[in-house]
Amino acid sequence: YTVDWDASAAEKGGWDSFMDKEIHEDPAAVQRTLLGRLNRNGDLNLDEVHIDEHDFKAVDKIIVIACGTASYAGMVAKYAIEHWVRIPVEVELAHEFRYRDPILTPRTLVVAISQSGETMDTLMALRHAREQGSKVLAICNTQGASIPRESDAVLYTHAGPEVAVASTKAFVAQITAAYLLGLYLAQVKGAMFRDEIHQVLDSLKHMPAKIQWVIDTQSGTISDAAKRMVDAKSFLFLGRHVGYPVALEGALKLKEIAYTFTEGFAAGELKHGPIALVDDGEPVVFIVPPERGRNVLHAKVISGIEEVRARGAFVIAVAEKGDPDVERYADVVFWRPQCPTLMSPLVDVVPLQLFAMDMAKLKGYDVDKPRNLAKSVTVE
Ligand code: G6P
Repeated sequence: YTVDWDASAAEKGGWDSFMDKEIHEDPAAVQRTLLGRLNRNGDLNLDEVHIDEHDFKAVDKIIVIACGTASYAGMVAKYAIEHWVRIPVEVELAHEFRYRDPILTPRTLVVAISQSGETMDTLMALRHAREQGSKVLAICNTQGASIPRESDAVLYTHAGPEVAVASTKAFVAQITAAYLLGLYLAQVKGAMFRDEIHQVLDSLKHMPAKIQWVIDTQSGTISDAAKRMVDAKSFLFLGRHVGYPVALEGALKLKEIAYTFTEGFAAGELKHGPIALVDDGEPVVFIVPPERGRNVLHAKVISGIEEVRARGAFVIAVAEKGDPDVERYADVVFWRPQCPTLMSPLVDVVPLQLFAMDMAKLKGYDVDKPRNLAKSVTVE
């Protein structure tokens, strides 16, 4: 009697790829990143971050440095942190940062976001920031990696090991950690009322279940859409506000693993150029903001959909369940459950991760190890 033992299959825990497994861990990645960071009375406790409360109070600007997916998590966080803390947040690709003589002071908090903690571009940028006297806080998924080791403080994302080259669960965990940092800053700086902070934390706590809902109810629609679109030569991804970095991330996933030519744009740019690319059958993915009627951007994104539809585009929308405007104009819809606008990236990226994976699998590619790419890029 023998048992066939395939170590790699065992690590995948029944999934046929790491990417599949890791997307299904999106809800847990958010949940585990929240775990233990709220104390009994519901306030945030980030004692693990060894930066003095006094230094935190003094912070007057944040600069996020990161590459790839992590930089899009940083862009999402910019919208939230500026809104909550009322200090400027810049997001810069780490490889551009240090070569342009950036303005850094002891009151600048540099936030280095990295899943692996080994990306050389990010490491070199953080060294530069520390040399200039700024404090660096790392948001990292890998215990003891170079980036957290060389930073003044670390806020770990607890997504668990990510094996697939294309980043998925780390992205939602990075947004969660950056949100905790923003709310903590708001708390120490007194930028928000305690009740307001509790309310945001409460919405954050509801996100794992909402992500799970997307995985449980939308996967069929998503794989059907992939089957319909598998021969498409190119895709445009459009979003506004926090939907903009989500569009960039959706476009990145599809190019990384399905080798499809994609471009992500801010939806407002449509009329300033990208609309020239739209003709019959061109697939365009729109991230439609929630809070129809309360969010002015909702109507603007809908009118963008109408514009491309009039030129024959095939529209895929990510939108709030039951949104009647979307139902009217989109060819395919990936639904999201109701949630506040700032929380929407945590759910909206999930169908785009699944879509890219389905497309790559249909084309027969190895979704875990895309050609030409490395999980962590340790050269500049
Ligand atoms: C590589 C990976 C990407 C990742 C980027 C940043 O390009 O292929 O998936 O987003 O590096 O990696 P990091 O480990 O710093 O988050």
